[in-house]
Amino acid sequence: CGIVGYIGNQDAKAILIKGLEKLEYRGYDSSGIALLNERGSHIYKEQGRIAALNDVIDQQETALVGIGHTRWATHGRPSRRNAHPHQSNSGRFTIVHNGVIENFEEIKRQFLSGVPFASDTDTEVIVQLMEKLVESGLEVEEAFRQLLVTMKGSYAVALLDNEDIHTIYVGKNKSPLLIGLGQDFHVIASDAMAMLQLTNQFVELMDEEMVILRQHSKTIKTLSGELMQRRPFQVKLDASDIEKGIYPHYMLKEIDEQPFVIRKIVSKYQDGNGDLVIDSNIRNSMKEADRIYIIACGTSYHAGLVGKQLIEKIAEIPVETHIASEFLYNRPILSKHPLFIFISQSGETADSRGVLVAIKQLGYPTLTITNVPGSTLSREANFTLLTHAGPEIAVASTKAYTAQIAVLAILAFDSARAKGINQETNPFHELSIAANAMEIMINRKEMMEENVWKYLNASRTCFFIGRSMDYYACLEGALKLKEISYIQAEGFAGGELKHGTIALIEEGTPVIALLTQSHIRGNIRSNVQEVLARGAHVCMISMEGMEEKHDQIVLPAIHEHLTPLVSVIPLQLIAYYAAVYRGCDVDKPRNLAKSVTVE
Ligand code: G6P
Repeated sequence: CGIVGYIGNQDAKAILIKGLEKLEYRGYDSSGIALLNERGSHIYKEQGRIAALNDVIDQQETALVGIGHTRWATHGRPSRRNAHPHQSNSGRFTIVHNGVIENFEEIKRQFLSGVPFASDTDTEVIVQLMEKLVESGLEVEEAFRQLLVTMKGSYAVALLDNEDIHTIYVGKNKSPLLIGLGQDFHVIASDAMAMLQLTNQFVELMDEEMVILRQHSKTIKTLSGELMQRRPFQVKLDASDIEKGIYPHYMLKEIDEQPFVIRKIVSKYQDGNGDLVIDSNIRNSMKEADRIYIIACGTSYHAGLVGKQLIEKIAEIPVETHIASEFLYNRPILSKHPLFIFISQSGETADSRGVLVAIKQLGYPTLTITNVPGSTLSREANFTLLTHAGPEIAVASTKAYTAQIAVLAILAFDSARAKGINQETNPFHELSIAANAMEIMINRKEMMEENVWKYLNASRTCFFIGRSMDYYACLEGALKLKEISYIQAEGFAGGELKHGTIALIEEGTPVIALLTQSHIRGNIRSNVQEVLARGAHVCMISMEGMEEKHDQIVLPAIHEHLTPLVSVIPLQLIAYYAAVYRGCDVDKPRNLAKSVTVE
């Protein structure tokens, strides 16, 4: 979910709506805003996209204060009734909330018995408690503080009080929240992107802090009442970076940007002499580590699997890659000198952060590889490496994935050098070759479009097979296809398909096979024969030098450790065209959110 707020001298409506549109990537099953003026608070909410919300707003109602929310459902189905903002029963207090209140049932039982509720959300519980606290005689600020102290879990909240149209009460724990500063106004936002059109000066809030926000003042306090001073930082993003331009979808734009991103990474990690520049603290931590634990979710996890191969093969350090949400509850026996690497496009994923918090308590060194400078995971880890991919807006991740792999490769080569492992390979040269190969594949879009017609048009399922590095790229290809086209897709290690899943292959079942690794050439070709013999409709993607006459797609040859950078391009494009042909919402697939800030 994402939240926004405005207090100033302009009409808040349009500002809130614009802000929410920029936050839609955090969830988009329902949205709402509350405007506050002398006539009280006015709430507008609707199920579905922000566009639907805009249609129900009374354009005549103006206000200089307001808050808004776009939702990714946790407690309660997506519906108008469960959409934020939520109000206390008297209508006095109005709240928006991003996060999960873990003890909401307890709060309900302990403090709110007999209180009627208008929604199924954990959020309504806290706004009703706010009212109770004020009814019990507390001042609003003190009641808000006690409310935050009582709430367990993650939250970024903004609260309005009908009896004071000059204040927004803000609180934060675990969920991200920024205060934006302007000449005659203040804004709040889950992500700076939402308010970039108004300001690039932001103040970060820390966990368990609250803010009393007015047009010309902001008072930051800890929950124990201590006043906090914090300098603003400047967000160096251009508002035009987050526009779609001539593209029909952000996803296509972001696929196209990939070669450029790889070249940018090459320039960012190189000094004037063409040598690798990586922070010496990171280099030393890599050198000292007896084992690396990579923690990530979704697409970033798939990049982490590739990272394992890169670091083990190039830098000769043992690596384990773990799904963040599993790691916490299923912790492996750790080595003596581990280094933890968190990979996260957004730097905000709650599952990954959960592991980071636990690891920090154990005192082990942590490195975050992220696309978002200043994000929670970046701030909280000891070290950060940036992926420099620019804002990724489409929910299905593309350029962030290839950027993560490129940075992991650079890290691996740097560590190899630091350990004195003989390296003839010039990583920048190899990455530049990869960028060119990516460009060639991007220019062959029609080929992927045709293949979608041929293989996937009428299909409900699709299998991806590959071995070694190609297996990892297959996992990512399958995830892309299911995320945006809703075709049931699975990636398999070529050898594993025959141990069960081959039972599903029948006449015409699409199988996409990848071959970029010479040492498994024979094996994967045999796996292809096995599925062909059972009627599969195979689309073979091979790398130059390993191709055969009838292969459907041939990739330009690149360094064998870096092949996912180029093999993923046709897979991304196949997923993209499959979604377009099926009339799916490519950039905002159902049920998903780009950044999942709840565990
Ligand atoms: C969400 C997104 C995925 C993404 C995953 C991890 O589930 O829909 O596309 O891969 O989160 O996100 P992160 O920002 O941590 O890379």
